[in-house]
Amino acid sequence: MKLKHILPIFLMLSGLLACTPENTPGSHSDPEMDSFIAELMGKMTLEEKIGQINLVSVGFDVTGPRVSEDVEEKIVNGQVGAVFNTYTPVAVRKLQELAISKSRLGIPLLFAFDVVHGHRTIFPVPLGLAASWDMELIEKSARIAAEEASAEGLNWTFSPMVDITRDPRWGRICEGSGEDAWYGSRVAEAMVRGYQGEDLAAQNTVMACIKHFALYGGAMSGRDYSTVDMSLLKMTEDYMPPYKAAVEAGAGSVMTSFNDINGVPATANRWLLTELLREQWGFEGFVVTDYTAVEELIPFGVAKDVRDAARLSLEAGVDMDMVSEIMVDHIGVLIEEQIVDPQLVDEACRRVLEAKYKLGLFEDPYRYADEQRGRDIPLSKDYRNAAMEIATRSMVLLKNENEILPLKREGSIALIGPLASSRRDVIGNWSGGGRAADAVSVEEGMRKLLGKDVVIHTAKGANITNDTLLLYKLNAHGGRLDYLDPAKLLKEALRAARKSDVILAVVGESQGMSGESASRSHIGIPQSQLDLLKALKKTGKPLVIVLMNGRPLTLEWENEHADAILETWFAGTEAGNAIARVLYGESNPSGKLTATFPRNIGQIPIFYNHKNIGRPYGGDMLDKFKSQYLDVSNEPLFPFGFGLSYTTFSYGELQLSSTELGKSGSLSISVEVSNTGSYTGEEVVQLYVQDLVASVTRPVKELKAYQKISLSPGEARELTFTLSPDDLRFYNTQLEYISEPGAFKVYVGTNSRDVQEAGFELVW
Ligand code: BGC
Repeated sequence: MKLKHILPIFLMLSGLLACTPENTPGSHSDPEMDSFIAELMGKMTLEEKIGQINLVSVGFDVTGPRVSEDVEEKIVNGQVGAVFNTYTPVAVRKLQELAISKSRLGIPLLFAFDVVHGHRTIFPVPLGLAASWDMELIEKSARIAAEEASAEGLNWTFSPMVDITRDPRWGRICEGSGEDAWYGSRVAEAMVRGYQGEDLAAQNTVMACIKHFALYGGAMSGRDYSTVDMSLLKMTEDYMPPYKAAVEAGAGSVMTSFNDINGVPATANRWLLTELLREQWGFEGFVVTDYTAVEELIPFGVAKDVRDAARLSLEAGVDMDMVSEIMVDHIGVLIEEQIVDPQLVDEACRRVLEAKYKLGLFEDPYRYADEQRGRDIPLSKDYRNAAMEIATRSMVLLKNENEILPLKREGSIALIGPLASSRRDVIGNWSGGGRAADAVSVEEGMRKLLGKDVVIHTAKGANITNDTLLLYKLNAHGGRLDYLDPAKLLKEALRAARKSDVILAVVGESQGMSGESASRSHIGIPQSQLDLLKALKKTGKPLVIVLMNGRPLTLEWENEHADAILETWFAGTEAGNAIARVLYGESNPSGKLTATFPRNIGQIPIFYNHKNIGRPYGGDMLDKFKSQYLDVSNEPLFPFGFGLSYTTFSYGELQLSSTELGKSGSLSISVEVSNTGSYTGEEVVQLYVQDLVASVTRPVKELKAYQKISLSPGEARELTFTLSPDDLRFYNTQLEYISEPGAFKVYVGTNSRDVQEAGFELVW
């Protein structure tokens, strides 16, 4: 039997994945919707049905290799079901009016956009949001994004991106929540809740789109759009859970990924889109492709021409074609020639119409094109305050020697670096609805907070990079970065540094250096900026590095020589205010990394939850036949879960309610955490488990729970976690989600490396 035949059987066997009566595809709980849509579809021609599955891009943003043409004419002809990259109530109303009053049946359009980390008010990039370990705030950011997007005419966002990745060379790591499937699932659920709220038809909610289904973060060599090759066990355990969690949270749509899976591109992968997603997970929404992904089946070499590409994707389970317009051009003929089953178009069309119905568009097609809301809602003071709060909580303190931070409000500082005065970079990439003009640069935030208390000397210090080819590429992608004389820049920076008490170097990546099609083979701070840091270090002044970047960076030199390092990601509209507050102690940093920072590129992929192996390294580098490098340690520079605070925390011993956990029982794990420093601070207390002996190799640690708490100086609190046998289940070689009795360890600590441990047995 071939793999493709065995696979569905395996998955059907799995208890967790099996269908239940409630989630059986097609089981709708809304007979009114069903009869409305059946009646409407009864009036539709085949061409009009095919029109519903066509998604075109036109308007204010260009997010792929080409834009759609003759859109207005196509809308009138009933050849368009949805539009993306057009927003504002006026622009949306104009196109919606064409659909409603000029097309034969007046079916409303969906309006989509990549609202990824905020719409007008921009929040930290998703990797930064994830570092907050605060699901309420993450949900709130998505809620605000939905309020703003829906006020600007949108009803569908291409978010959340829930792709797990363990490769920071991949630029899109900044769009997701990092390397852990369990944690990524919690973020995915929070985002879906935030966007969709309780009622999709409400004027202030938008439909979510889970992307990129599936495994896009497994791109080989970290190069965007490259192939993905992984075992079924690995994908099921480490990559699929967040997509599934988002489906279970009720997301209305799913986007296919650009990669192949088991040799079949996602957009033509029937196992993925129909058997797994619909039949086993019970997904009832619709599946849209990624940008021109139908047509890309041809260069993939699985479709010989456009007709073949149209057939393969429709048969696989695609319901909407993004920009290729191959479905709209070819499916009709393929049906006429009896090559494609017309039932497939009916199903795809029905799913798209159902989404429109659930969004309330048949009741009021202009529901989201309310000009008054468009004026009142975006960028309100409350939203900006929320953006500031979330930004401060996303920042991760990586180093703080001799308590140099928080800084004192006195004397003078040298604020140096190519990112110090930038408003465009702080809002990061995928911030199309945001405006640099609304954002606060670090310099502006510092000046506002410090007034006359501190003298600020500024200097750019270096170009983002002196690599002119890279600069050219970044500029071509809309970065607009200047290139100035490096010697002159350095001279100015040294002059500023020498007359200041402390140097604050704002360095890292420009916004275009991470995101789509922004893979890097060196993930350090660009050489131009590293040279600047080295020269600044030689002045002997205390050196605080304020990092801006969208991925884990290699920071060995920086970690050795800087006095402090604050990771701020691309922190959004309020970045400058938030960074100033954190640097001056108005907020105590509490973010923790959700992606491991390697020491060097050669360690990649590096992640905390790697498997047990037969020759683990035991700490003796002369023990030759152990899994180790000759030239670098196995340990990352900063592990998963890592992040410091201005205060310190100490952990007491773990107390277990029992040394045994029975089949239907639960186990309590308690630990006392105390604030032993002099600032009030928040700590993310993390709990990991390890299955010591199992029928398949298990990770050395797996995150299973966490609690974020705030403690004042001297305060201690006892925290209790509860584990049940369910938390200890895993996928075996048959992909069954099972429990096996035996010995386990539980670890609790401040990050995935620094933990207390205790043992217990799972018994039947
Ligand atoms: C990206 C998607 C995005 C789409 C629409 C694609 O290039 O991969 O993440 O949603 O464009 O802008």
